[in-house]
Amino acid sequence: MDNYFTKDTVDIILNNIDEGVQIIDNRGKILYSNDIALVMEDIDREDVTGKHILSVYPSLTEITSTLLQVLRTGETIYDVKQEFLNFKGNKITTINTSIPIIEEGNIKGAIEISRDITKVRALSEQLVDLQKELYYEEPKETDEKRGTARYTFNDIIGSTEEIVELKRKAIKAAENNSSVIVYGNTGTGKELIVQAIHNASRRREKPFVAQNCAAIPGSLLESILFGTVKGSFTDADNRPGLFELANGGTLFLDEINSMPFELQAKLLRVLEEGRIRRVGDIKTRKVDVRIIAAMNMDPYRAMKERKIRDDLFYRLSVVSFRIPNLVERKDDIKGLVQFFIRKFNRQLDKNVKGVTNGVLQTFYQYHWPGNIRELENIIEGAMNMIDGSYIREEDLPNHVSLFATGEKRKDVSDFSLRKSMNNWEKQFIQDALKETAGNVTKAAQLLKIPRQTLQYKIKKYGITAD
Ligand SMILES: Nc1ncnc2c1ncn2[C@@H]1O[C@H](COP(=O)(O)OP(=O)(O)OP(=O)(O)O)[C@@H](O)[C@H]1O
Ligand SMILES: [Mg+2]
Repeated sequence: MDNYFTKDTVDIILNNIDEGVQIIDNRGKILYSNDIALVMEDIDREDVTGKHILSVYPSLTEITSTLLQVLRTGETIYDVKQEFLNFKGNKITTINTSIPIIEEGNIKGAIEISRDITKVRALSEQLVDLQKELYYEEPKETDEKRGTARYTFNDIIGSTEEIVELKRKAIKAAENNSSVIVYGNTGTGKELIVQAIHNASRRREKPFVAQNCAAIPGSLLESILFGTVKGSFTDADNRPGLFELANGGTLFLDEINSMPFELQAKLLRVLEEGRIRRVGDIKTRKVDVRIIAAMNMDPYRAMKERKIRDDLFYRLSVVSFRIPNLVERKDDIKGLVQFFIRKFNRQLDKNVKGVTNGVLQTFYQYHWPGNIRELENIIEGAMNMIDGSYIREEDLPNHVSLFATGEKRKDVSDFSLRKSMNNWEKQFIQDALKETAGNVTKAAQLLKIPRQTLQYKIKKYGITAD
């Protein structure tokens, strides 16, 4: 097939993607809409083709229509939220990218690619409403506590120096009001420590509101955080944002490195001024909220990769914590194992007494990419399966028992350091490749080694892509 971009193939592509695609000419007349765009807007092709865009979407204006904006400026607009009423009067929210079609310096028209986030928006607004109910309705007798912060410092298990020092620092942080940033790999206990700080602080009786910044499209996050007022352009309602809901308490911004850069600038301003402005509002409102942020990447890498603004990071990191990986505090494994066994004995109504020595050895050798969460899940999984009093190596998932036993059995006698190191190295490389979906360049960056070196090691260990 020489010319694979025939009209038929383009049609197939356009009608089998999740995004709506529309094309207008330079006067704003709709030339083309793919099937999804028609479904999204609940209209028939005959009702749109050849019509002016504002006659099809009466709730849009010259100013608010991103397509018309692109015709005027000739510049691409990325990921802008647009709210409009469709023909049938339903409120639709989309995230649009609009691109001008330019030929010989003249704007011939524009293409818009849009993602329907109506459902996501409804869900996130529901979330805000639920949080509101939680904090502002009269507490029912059955509610133990109003907030959602369950953990205290007593729930943080660990007696290694790393953890004791961390707790000491966190208890100090709880005494004052400064912003805090917590970073560490997945499953290390970031949320645990953040909740414990809130519960030990003077704000403990006030709301603890958590928002994962990666869970919501960036363009929605602003209205979720700051709230909205009924505006003339948009179709938004009057609603408070999480800052107002958290007033007096703590707002936990998880995965802050996923927050869009421009929004980070706004957040910084709020931190500095202590006031927020609802989206579409002219006035500002005073808020008293303590911010605790978390992320699962090293802050210096995050700044270098422009995932977090330097100025915001330095403002947030009045107090900063790095939560160590489980492999960095292996001496806590025993205590954690006991803690989780007790927990699941209660939950599953069992009477497990412990783990065998072999299991403990395996746990000391394993590399714990999922950290404490992984340990917790493994214990829970094993306890679901067993009837006896001890968790044995057979009760562990294969990838854990094989990881250790593969070399352990033989190496225990010859203590081959190199062999064990190679094993570790191989496992780390496999993990990195998994993390980057097999992308060698990115994996090399993660491992902080040159690409060529990684390529050589992949060959050496016979690692295959699967
Ligand atoms: N020191 C600890 N003692 C007891 N349980 C812990 C400890 N640290 C973590 N856990 C448990 O491990 C699980 C994961 O912890 P948490 O959710 O705080 O991790 P996280 O760092 O926020 O991870 P992610 O980046 O994936 O969100 C939770 O069930 C938590 O209770
Ligand atoms: Mg977390």
